[in-house]
Amino acid sequence: MLNFNFYNPTRIFFGTNRFDVIDRQIPAGARVLITLGGGSARRNGLIDKAKAVLGSRAVFEFEGIEPNPRFETLMRAAELVRSEKIDFILAIGGGSVIDGTKFIALAALYEGDALEFLRGNPKLKPSKAVPFGSVLTLPATGSEMNSGGVVSQGDGKFAFRSEYTFPVFSILDPTVTYTLPAIQVANGVVDAFVHTTEQYLTYPVDARIQDRMAEGILHTLIEIGKTTIEEPENYDARANLVWSATMALNGIIGAGVPQDWATHMIGHELTARFGIDHGQTLAIVLPSLMNVRRNQKKAKLLQYAERIWNISSGPEEERIDRAIEKTRAFFESLGIKTRLSEYGVTPGQIPAIVDQLKDHGMTALSETRDLSPEISREILEGAM
Ligand code: NZQ
Ligand code: ZN
Repeated sequence: MLNFNFYNPTRIFFGTNRFDVIDRQIPAGARVLITLGGGSARRNGLIDKAKAVLGSRAVFEFEGIEPNPRFETLMRAAELVRSEKIDFILAIGGGSVIDGTKFIALAALYEGDALEFLRGNPKLKPSKAVPFGSVLTLPATGSEMNSGGVVSQGDGKFAFRSEYTFPVFSILDPTVTYTLPAIQVANGVVDAFVHTTEQYLTYPVDARIQDRMAEGILHTLIEIGKTTIEEPENYDARANLVWSATMALNGIIGAGVPQDWATHMIGHELTARFGIDHGQTLAIVLPSLMNVRRNQKKAKLLQYAERIWNISSGPEEERIDRAIEKTRAFFESLGIKTRLSEYGVTPGQIPAIVDQLKDHGMTALSETRDLSPEISREILEGAM
């Protein structure tokens, strides 16, 4: 097992009817900004519910954080935080609203150039953020219990992380996710699945707990994925999806193991260029990446084939082929297309995607940092 530090201060309140905790978690005299997306949280009555619990606190709202939240939108919210002297933010939404809120919380108190920080200048580290909590409405990203976020700016998506942007608390009520369109639930299953594989399908370091927890999450997602899409109000299935998604990216399964975020980094370019949903980009890239990187990942791919898909006989290369086919078939069983061509992308557009990766510094990806733009090109071609 590799050395690791682990820190996660987010309090989780899981289950139905948990809005009352907002009153205990947010200081009595706080000036509160509620952040939300395009309106689903308002239509579903969550804003009114939160306001009722916030009682006499001064409450402001910022509506309109878009999917794949944009820097300019978030900077407007940061300005509101400054001008209204907000001292607590409550994010009600999916990964985009929670990520966006993390950036707002940092940018509002940041004295340097927030854009330069976002675009990855490692010397620029914020040293504080406005505290915030979240009500999660879309199980997928794990943003409700981690300190990372992704913000879109110009032609790119940029990831950031700060020890000051863990939510103080997150409410995980599976019933508030019942209104999600089927495609968003499917995206969420895939996102949680791929977060897990990115911390699992690397090379062995004898991290048995992390491996077995990762395998537990993958099995759970395979067991409940289709059911939770077809039966949105099946509480048990949805509760298992919510907790799987949180556990997939709260740091626990990633502690002490190599990590390979190449599927995400290539996927981000597909969202930035073609507007393909985050989860869908992952379903496109992962099967092809597993194929192209089968030598680097051989031992873990064989473990994955055996422990996840019960494939333990036959020549090794064939076992890996079958495990990749099973993975693709699982994503497709959720209604997610796994080929770039099915999203209208043509082979002629691949060089431009590779150039974008280069422009954004994504030239040495993977657990071994040797996944070059040339290999990204191969992966994209294999995903057509
Ligand atoms: O904007 P509203 O009206 O709320 O509608 C949203 C949005 O259109 C809708 N929605 C959310 N909850 C709903 C609902 N509709 C009905 N009922 C509900 N209960 O769903 C749509 C998509 O929402 P979004 O937040 O964009 O989806 P998701 O949670 O998948 O977040 C995607 C973003 O998270 C980033 C992605 O890059 C992307 O920008 N990620 C963040 C990560 C992190 N912080 O650790 C890791 C991930 O890998 C990912 O990169
Ligand atoms: Zn993701």
